[in-house]
Amino acid sequence: MAAETQKLSLKREVGLIGAISFIAGTMMGSGIFMSPQSVLVNIGSPGASLVIWAACGLLATLGSLCYAELGTVISESGGEYIYILRIFGQVVAFMFVFSFVIVMRPASATGIALSFAEYAVAPFYHDCTPPELVVKCVAAAGIVMLAIVNSMNVRLAMFIQVFSMVIKLVALAVIIIGGVVLLFKGNTENFEDSFKGTNVEISSIGISLYQGLWSYDGWNTLNYVTEELKRPEFVLSYIGSPGASLVIWTLSGLVAMLGALSYAELGTIIKESGGDFIYILRIYGQFPAFFVAFTFLLVVKPASIAAISLSFAEYAVAPFYQDCSPPQLIVKCAAVVAVMVVAMANILNVNLPRAVMIAIPMVTMLYLLVNVSYLAAMTPRELMSSSAVAVTWGNKVLGSWGWVMSIAAALSAFGSLNGTFFSGGRVCFVAAREGHMPDILAMAHVNRLTPSPALIFTTAISLLVLIPGDFQSIVNFFSFTAWFFYAITLSGLLYLKIKKPELPRPYRVPIVIPILVIIAAIFLVLAPIIDNPAIEYLYVTLFIFSGVLVYVPFIHFKLCPGLLDKVTVFLQLFLEVAPADKNL
Ligand code: ARG
Repeated sequence: MAAETQKLSLKREVGLIGAISFIAGTMMGSGIFMSPQSVLVNIGSPGASLVIWAACGLLATLGSLCYAELGTVISESGGEYIYILRIFGQVVAFMFVFSFVIVMRPASATGIALSFAEYAVAPFYHDCTPPELVVKCVAAAGIVMLAIVNSMNVRLAMFIQVFSMVIKLVALAVIIIGGVVLLFKGNTENFEDSFKGTNVEISSIGISLYQGLWSYDGWNTLNYVTEELKRPEFVLSYIGSPGASLVIWTLSGLVAMLGALSYAELGTIIKESGGDFIYILRIYGQFPAFFVAFTFLLVVKPASIAAISLSFAEYAVAPFYQDCSPPQLIVKCAAVVAVMVVAMANILNVNLPRAVMIAIPMVTMLYLLVNVSYLAAMTPRELMSSSAVAVTWGNKVLGSWGWVMSIAAALSAFGSLNGTFFSGGRVCFVAAREGHMPDILAMAHVNRLTPSPALIFTTAISLLVLIPGDFQSIVNFFSFTAWFFYAITLSGLLYLKIKKPELPRPYRVPIVIPILVIIAAIFLVLAPIIDNPAIEYLYVTLFIFSGVLVYVPFIHFKLCPGLLDKVTVFLQLFLEVAPADKNL
């Protein structure tokens, strides 16, 4: 028993790159490969569907800015749960975690797993849709596999995250480049008269937003794992990447070395930093200095980056073209990828709010371009009737290499599922720590230090949801519930901003932003119900509120603890887990 009271804690293993891959890797998963057709079906026209995708990106960006402030004010893991608990108290927090554990998390895991399965089996069913049973079994296999990985080893989970992220970036880049090529070839007819047929009913707009927002969901991922971030205040509020800057500055430094001798003298005379710019400013005055800065920014820097990256690309692809020179397009694409990677790393060299302002609009751009590419390759009708757009796209554009797209899309979903497990297990875990879930769910494996009971629990429920579920309805119910709680969380932020302005905050979001997002969230929750109320949403709402009925006897009055204690002890020995402590 003595050993039991000595508490374990989860390790801080998520560093900068891991953190970034968790956000981006969870966001970009199944949606961009599954939802474009549902958005189009619901909103009715290509033009309007692009507007929907852009609007979703805007909403995700504004939402994450608000969460950046929340994450720095309340530094515990657990996302919405912990914010609601600290701001609104026990009952509402329990309602959240009850819906989260039983609806939201399993629904998101299942939705992503279904998309993974759809793409994983696509190459084997060339001319027909795969049987549902096969898809569901593969989805279940994916869920179980990732649950095992996540209970075994955090590092392996991180690896999967980073690896799948690279794959999905390449896949999206391929789709975008293919689209650009098609557009240049003149495939623009689908963009003519592009708003014809738009559905303007509130519920169509609402449902297409749900489908689009699914693709952006995960923008709040880091807030779930704050305690496992290495140097959270650094990652959350002052993200920096010395490594990447070092690389680029060393490269520039090499070139500069040639001039270094003469510069050495200049440097001892004019002691300010700023290089040529400052020397010219001090010696020749304002205008020439401005001219230099201008040229430097627009010509010298871009040209040198282009030159370096092209030479990098030339060498990087050389091994694949032993006897011939590599095609220009390939070299240029490789160079673009290299520049993007280094640029990303450098962009992250700013604080979180700015990273958010750059990263999520970037995802938005990617998504828009991918949608444009889909529309360049197929007519709206073809797009609407395809169950896996990336496969249809691949078959049309890449011909016999189409299957590559399916594999990439499957891996992308796999990575997103991994991120979903990683963060989702943590909410369960934090809630159990606060006494809102059975104790066993707050325990971690004694050697591996992973919260395996919480992971197993999430897996079991996900498998149950998988049996009746289909992708689109899962996504709709998920979005409905998620935005309901995002609205509550953001009202909490509003409350903190108004009532507790004195709390220390490294970052403050302008108050209009949470207000705007709350208005949008209210619209989102009401829209599908207003002009076409489907009875299912009533069930979901009743379910959310039924959390209170569970709360009163089991949490407040702690009924039947005896039985639970026995089960806990049994499971604890069986799973080799022990209570884990907060990591603050
Ligand atoms: N955006 C992801 C996708 O497109 C789904 C994210 C589900 N939500 C989550 N918190 N994991 O597949």
